[in-house]
Amino acid sequence: MNNLKHKVLITGASQGIGAALACEFAKQKATLVLVARTQSKLESVADKCKTLGAESVQLVAADLSEPASWDKVAQAGAQAGINILVNNAGYGLWGEFAEQSLEALQKNMRLNMDALLVLTHKLIPTLKKSQKSYVMNVSSTTAYQALPTFATYAASKSFVLMWSRALHHELKKSGISVTALVPGATDTGFIERANMQHMEEAAKKLSMTPEAVAQIGISGMFKGKMEVVPGLMNKVSAVAVPLLPKKMVEKIAANIYIKKQ
Ligand SMILES: NC(=O)c1ccc[n+]([C@@H]2O[C@H](COP(=O)([O-])OP(=O)(O)OC[C@H]3O[C@@H](n4cnc5c(N)ncnc54)[C@H](OP(=O)(O)O)[C@@H]3O)[C@@H](O)[C@H]2O)c1
Repeated sequence: MNNLKHKVLITGASQGIGAALACEFAKQKATLVLVARTQSKLESVADKCKTLGAESVQLVAADLSEPASWDKVAQAGAQAGINILVNNAGYGLWGEFAEQSLEALQKNMRLNMDALLVLTHKLIPTLKKSQKSYVMNVSSTTAYQALPTFATYAASKSFVLMWSRALHHELKKSGISVTALVPGATDTGFIERANMQHMEEAAKKLSMTPEAVAQIGISGMFKGKMEVVPGLMNKVSAVAVPLLPKKMVEKIAANIYIKKQ
């Protein structure tokens, strides 16, 4: 059991995995800084967290795909003296790359990669002030292979995974443990935002709850794990996919993700 007084900043905390993580930390009497765009949804998560035992909850309404927001969010984390940073906010945009709006893709990459990089860099000095601190970056099992029709999202999650693993080694000596949480299909607003309704039925059969993902993620993070893959099926695919011929895996993946008419 970890005796640290948890002070946690979570991005994308207004719903889904981020809200579930906030509730789990609330049960451990944490001080929370919750970030997302939608103030009203953040307020309902904050109410729930207070009921569950959070010491205090601060809300920061910010669009992290806008570079102008990064300083504000980092300052909130520094002022709260956080010792846990959870970079969770992210989404995908399903579709053929050439047909997608370049502007929309770039906005998506700013959230999925740049915001993590900037927030982590700006908050390392704050994290170093604690004897022990943690960074959790939310990747995805899409990180393990190239994914036709989900190309940019999957590549952004590969970035999150590889970058986190490298930082795990680099920051160990500073007392900062970095964990990549690598969920597979999880029952959240993700499919709708990604415009992947054609996969909803199939995804539901395999989906985990955000609560289960959050519990497994936090437990692995406190154990100092570099990579946490929740769920047996996801674990099996994380081990098996890199062992199989890439071309074969990509063909199978393309077949799963493509929209059947
Ligand atoms: N669900 C899955 O199947 C699955 C699988 C693997 C990995 N993941 C990853 O898990 C993470 C959480 O996703 P989720 O499944 O919980 O999806 P979700 O239900 O759509 O939640 C996404 C969260 O991110 C916030 N967000 C979105 N755009 C934002 C922006 N521009 N600035 C700040 N916050 C923003 C949303 O709040 P607002 O809309 O209020 O801003 C929301 O709180 C993501 O990184 C996703 O890639 C999900």
